Amino acid sequence: MQLSTPHLLGIKDLPIADIDLILSTASHFKDVLQRPIKKVPSLRDTTIVNLFYENSTRTRISFELAEKRLSADTLNFSASGSSVSKGESLLDTVKNILSMKVDMVVMRHSSSGAPHFLAKHIPVAIVNAGDGINEHPTQALLDAFSIKEKCGTLEGKKVVLIGDIMHSRVALSNIYLLKKAGAEVMVAGPPTLIPIYIQEALDVRVEYNLKKALQWCDVANVLRIQLERQNEVLFSSLREYNLAYGISKKTLEALNKEIVILHPGPINRGVEIDSDVADSSHSIILQQVENGVAVRMAVLYLLSNAQNF
Ligand code: CP
Repeated sequence: MQLSTPHLLGIKDLPIADIDLILSTASHFKDVLQRPIKKVPSLRDTTIVNLFYENSTRTRISFELAEKRLSADTLNFSASGSSVSKGESLLDTVKNILSMKVDMVVMRHSSSGAPHFLAKHIPVAIVNAGDGINEHPTQALLDAFSIKEKCGTLEGKKVVLIGDIMHSRVALSNIYLLKKAGAEVMVAGPPTLIPIYIQEALDVRVEYNLKKALQWCDVANVLRIQLERQNEVLFSSLREYNLAYGISKKTLEALNKEIVILHPGPINRGVEIDSDVADSSHSIILQQVENGVAVRMAVLYLLSNAQNF
């Protein structure tokens, strides 16, 4: 079985058959990762560069580990400390790296569409590791994998994305994926953090009342407040945000039902989520991180077989 695409740029145009193939392949790699010897030779003699033009902890380490588990050779590039500071363009940087016989590119960039631009100009597979406020496809895939693992299926599950929807590439990729997989999707948060067009454009429910959103859902994916992307004041204070939209143990106890809590990280403890929830049995945050390695192994492995430029 092969992916229908040479790159993973986003979930928006990814067929459900490709999503299912990635998730089932990830399940196989998750089994591999439980073994005493966690390494397979699948990408031996393949060289992958991780190009990070924006900060990352989870995604970057997860891709690097996935590459190492597949026996690929890995290179790590950070824009800070590179010749980007001397004015070198994205395309020149990548062309120079590829001339050293590099076979695949994993890229995070603060500009939406940067990997799509690159895909038009270079002849190797590109994996989008997060582009601006556009998409973060491997995060949505690992979130879906984690929900399936916990709940058995995505079909018919009620999933709410809570918080800073406006600036979240995780929200957009999750919405695309969950809807393709047959889940019901809601976005919840303050009106200033939810784009007004979202209900019509993406066919999702919108709820401004946190308690109603939590009463409705089976799964809540709590998003980070992205202060670094906010150019204007969108709520009065972090304390006020926490009072109205923060998820605490008290909030969950008032529901009289169990819900599963996800968060893509990094967490702002005491803002969108309190420690008594983040570290509780409701939370599958660290399982998400664990599953990220298997999901990224699946993506890299399948793209290495699908190179059809
Ligand atoms: N979830 C996520 O993308 O985290 P990082 O920014 O640490 O990679």
